[in-house]
Amino acid sequence: MGWTKAIAAADLPADARQVVSLDGQKVLLLNHEGTIHAVANSCPHMKLPMKKGKIVDGALVCPFHRSAFDLCSGTPQSWTPFPPGVGKVMGMIKSETPLPVFATKVEDGEIWVEVGAAA
Ligand code: FES
Repeated sequence: MGWTKAIAAADLPADARQVVSLDGQKVLLLNHEGTIHAVANSCPHMKLPMKKGKIVDGALVCPFHRSAFDLCSGTPQSWTPFPPGVGKVMGMIKSETPLPVFATKVEDGEIWVEVGAAA
């Protein structure tokens, strides 16, 4: 699929986030400390939206069962730790799975995302 134009870089200032639809996928764009990240907006655990997830130590934390995924690689740093006890059981419905992350670049004031080439 290759590179797809997302939004103007000016529309994603520091600490902003926005969900865009690119090639049929919901992609969450985040400007974290001046770096543009693009990840799937769907948590790999139960496909719930990641948009409101906090960023803790470079990882995006799912707002539901708090799985944490490295923002750069998508690698899980924790898997369904919440709620205590119950979360562990809920984590068994699906094995630990990375969050798809996509390469980004800014050219001519536009953010581009390499959709279809998730890490
Ligand atoms: S839906 Fe994200 S951890 Fe369960």
